Amino acid sequence: MSSSTAPIITSEVPAPFDPWSIRSRFPVLTREVRPGVPLVYLDNAATSLKPWSVIRAVQSYDTEFTANVHRGLHTLSEEATAAYEEARTSVARYIHARDESEIIFTRGTTESINLVALSFGRTRLQPGDEIVLTALEHHANLVPWLMLARERGVVLRYAELHPDGTLDLDSLDRQIGSRTRLVAFSGMSNVLGTLLPIAEIVARAQAVGAATLLDAAQLVAHGPLDVAALGVDFAAFSGHKMFGPTGIGILYGRRERLEAMPPVLGGGDMVLEVHRDRAEWNELPYKFEAGTPPIAQAIGLGAAVQFLAELDWDAITAHQQQLVASAQARLASISGVRLFSAPAYQNGGVVSFTVDGVHPHDLAQILDRRGVAIRAGQHCAMPLHETLGIPASARASFCLYNCQSEVESLAQAVEYACSVFHRSDSRSPNAARKSPADG
Ligand code: ALA
Repeated sequence: MSSSTAPIITSEVPAPFDPWSIRSRFPVLTREVRPGVPLVYLDNAATSLKPWSVIRAVQSYDTEFTANVHRGLHTLSEEATAAYEEARTSVARYIHARDESEIIFTRGTTESINLVALSFGRTRLQPGDEIVLTALEHHANLVPWLMLARERGVVLRYAELHPDGTLDLDSLDRQIGSRTRLVAFSGMSNVLGTLLPIAEIVARAQAVGAATLLDAAQLVAHGPLDVAALGVDFAAFSGHKMFGPTGIGILYGRRERLEAMPPVLGGGDMVLEVHRDRAEWNELPYKFEAGTPPIAQAIGLGAAVQFLAELDWDAITAHQQQLVASAQARLASISGVRLFSAPAYQNGGVVSFTVDGVHPHDLAQILDRRGVAIRAGQHCAMPLHETLGIPASARASFCLYNCQSEVESLAQAVEYACSVFHRSDSRSPNAARKSPADG
């Protein structure tokens, strides 16, 4: 894929980032996949590893102040409530929300987007109204809208991509119109790595009075997010892709939007008063947090956000772009490799590829023998693979703790896989096998 848009040029060259300065904080990075085979973890887009500070934060809840939140009057419950609400404050600060009431704890990106579909979508959208998506969305930002389209007769429209994997803004302009009520888009593709021009997309949506939802699932692990400056109405992301625990996510919503939306789940904590015949909803953000929340996970996410907030993101961005550029160059030099990856300067850290005659699943298994962990399949993005005209791909996804030697380990493992497959019969049943749906 070649570039078709102007590079983002920074005026100052950041001091180089040394991933070794941070690797010791991630215990899993020290393990061997099997004796003598160290782990090369390149599956960060699926989930990131956790630093000690997150592990210890979760552990302290379980060992020191296990209690429910917002309910008890005893010391442990007060401590748990304080830690849970401090995590909310940390997230609000990290993404520049106006205050904590705009931060809803959910189980993850998928639940956050479903919440918007089930509340905003069901109450604000009429048959014939349009939702604009892009061709690179993953299933979390597709299926809730497909369900809403089926239920309410809303129409889904898709902005297409340039051949280099970047968003075609002219195509977006053709999709946005007077019937557009929502533009829901990923800030970073989990397959191509593309960083989308968020401000440009928001401006186009606002010009027709449409709401915006930023799927930041991939983006949050690659630098701070400023929802206020970007002007998005909603943003959704998961803790586990940003060095936090699984089972916790965030829905950010502008207060005016959230105030106008009905709750989706009913139960404890989301109500102020309950009678036999009626109930009164709690204030934000609790209106959307029914039942006992994932307390330990929220506290762990707070620790992850504190970890992220201390980093030098200019230096890390340059480091990650360097990893992407060298992975692209090194893989492209291997005969039979086809890259599906946005240009490095517009890429958050993902290099997807195929190898002629080798199914991505087989490739991933052979790479695992060398300790190299990648993802293979459709990466929960089947429509994008249809657009690319490939049944599946292999994906190496990088983040701040990855280093150049791991790019070389990846490339050597791919060369090894090619030698194994091309030594045997490239027309073997394995090479031709059909990819099962993978999410
Ligand atoms: N969306 C996640 C991924 O890209 C699961 O792997």
